[in-house]
Amino acid sequence: METSAAILARRSVRAFSDQPVSRDLLRSLVETATWAPSASNVQAWRFCVVDDPALVRKLDMVSPGLSGKPPVIAVVLSDREYARAKGGQKAADEFSSLDAAYACENLMLAAADAGLGTCAIKSYNDDAVRSLLNVPDGLQVELLISLGWPDPAKSPRAPKRKPLDEVLRFNGCEAWGAEETSSHTDAAASQADDEGCTASCAEQSRDAIGAEGKARPVQTSLSEAMSASPAPQQKTTQPSAVACETAFHGSLSAAMAASAAAAGAPPHSAEEGTDGLELLAYMVTSAAGLRGEPAIYGPLRLIESSKRVAAQLADSLKTADPARAEALRNLATLIAERQNDCMTDEDSFYTMLSEAAALLAKAL
Ligand SMILES: Cc1cc2nc3c(=O)[nH]c(=O)nc-3n(C[C@H](O)[C@H](O)[C@H](O)COP(=O)(O)O)c2cc1C
Repeated sequence: METSAAILARRSVRAFSDQPVSRDLLRSLVETATWAPSASNVQAWRFCVVDDPALVRKLDMVSPGLSGKPPVIAVVLSDREYARAKGGQKAADEFSSLDAAYACENLMLAAADAGLGTCAIKSYNDDAVRSLLNVPDGLQVELLISLGWPDPAKSPRAPKRKPLDEVLRFNGCEAWGAEETSSHTDAAASQADDEGCTASCAEQSRDAIGAEGKARPVQTSLSEAMSASPAPQQKTTQPSAVACETAFHGSLSAAMAASAAAAGAPPHSAEEGTDGLELLAYMVTSAAGLRGEPAIYGPLRLIESSKRVAAQLADSLKTADPARAEALRNLATLIAERQNDCMTDEDSFYTMLSEAAALLAKAL
């Protein structure tokens, strides 16, 4: 395939067949990735390719943005310590992420060229992914890439691109920057909020997220981790909303690390009963990850959870109450068919939510 044809043909694929991808092909994709440019040729990128089905499933469970059951997940990391040693502070702080992004694009284009589907995934729980893959300190997880042979029955639509005139200028940058100004204002407002944080609340927040801003060690149970957030009645001073939110998110992250540990624990070696665990992991990672994500991801994560509940209920009711089971199955099917419209056609997505509510009424 011509390079530009591959660029235009590549789409984010969110439905995969379960056909495996050979190690030889995976190796060649990563090799192509490593021919990307890197600042000072530091090459701090690292690739952890996960093709063990049990581990893929666990990564999937803690990655709300991942869909379509890919057989492979390529985890792209940067070795920040190595980048600092080889290329200095800027290489560690700025360039290694850029370099990794170029490598990711190479990998995704090479995959498209081979007929494989990929999707870049940033909505994953960092603590949980690190825990599942034993990522050493000093390495940063940059991106997950789901990878596999696309499901031929579900070819993705191309999301619209902005008109060229909106994104291109020659010799200057006139009439840009309005959005940037408003986001600077937001950042300033939130900084002001942070500065208004009381000492006690800052302490509670530090306690929840750990001294260096890292999540605390893995808790023994989800409920223990969730209760790491300070109880409201224990507060002696009025905390700022920002600090409490930080504490809350810290406890969610700790909960996710615990969930990852639980997902890896031997008692769950049998698949039985883990659907609920999968849903739980999805919901907690969604809650932990939604901060700072586009607003439409809120309803998306809720409706995805609803789809899973509907499918599970339909399954459990199929003998006792076949009519209700069918209504629930129809609900799950409707959601599955249209949930990804949120990327390409928001109106269709929101219409689907209304239709889902009407379908749900039939199952009540
Ligand atoms: C940094 C980055 C993070 C992304 N994260 C996700 C994600 O978590 N889940 C997902 O389904 N798609 C994700 N995407 C895919 C984008 O939604 C997609 O690239 C965009 O809608 C354009 O569609 P296209 O890739 O088919 O051209 C991500 C893309 C990038 C570049």
